Amino acid sequence: MTKQGNIFLIGFMGAGKSTVAKELSRRLGCERIEMDQLIVEKKGMPISEIFSTYGEDYFRDIETQCLIDFHKKNNVVVSCGGGVVIREKNIKYMKESGCIVLLSATPETIYERVKDSDERPILNDHMNVEFIADLMEKRRNKYISAADIVIDTDKKNVDEICDEIIERWERA
Ligand code: S3P
Repeated sequence: MTKQGNIFLIGFMGAGKSTVAKELSRRLGCERIEMDQLIVEKKGMPISEIFSTYGEDYFRDIETQCLIDFHKKNNVVVSCGGGVVIREKNIKYMKESGCIVLLSATPETIYERVKDSDERPILNDHMNVEFIADLMEKRRNKYISAADIVIDTDKKNVDEICDEIIERWERA
């Protein structure tokens, strides 16, 4: 990897950030950080338990602290939680240490990818396309304005998505 800086993958739950991060870090030969996983390890409990025990704000505070800590890193691929763009300052922290890549997908695609999971407290009681479309719409401007690069993932496989990211990231 010759180009410097971290790569932050953002996007709605189920956009494919974790899957893409795995392949992208393999191809670039760099470290990968799964932010949700990091938080689970730091707190010693699943995300759903962090939400139910301490509330969403507490979880968002840990997310923000992780992004500050990433200033010490270089050349890592970070798969962020879907809500990382909610706080304006998080976007600033990501831009200070790297490039933000948005993975987008339609609500229907997202639903197909997340419907059998119960690990996302935000969706647990609202597992349907309408809720996903509505929340996605509420977050749309935040995702778009944060992104340095936007990749549409509908009908693309992970190799095609990584090809596109690498090509555009190297030019950015
Ligand atoms: C969230 C997305 C989740 C996780 C938490 C909240 C969100 O991450 O951080 O459940 O608000 O969109 P994934 O996008 O990896 O599912």
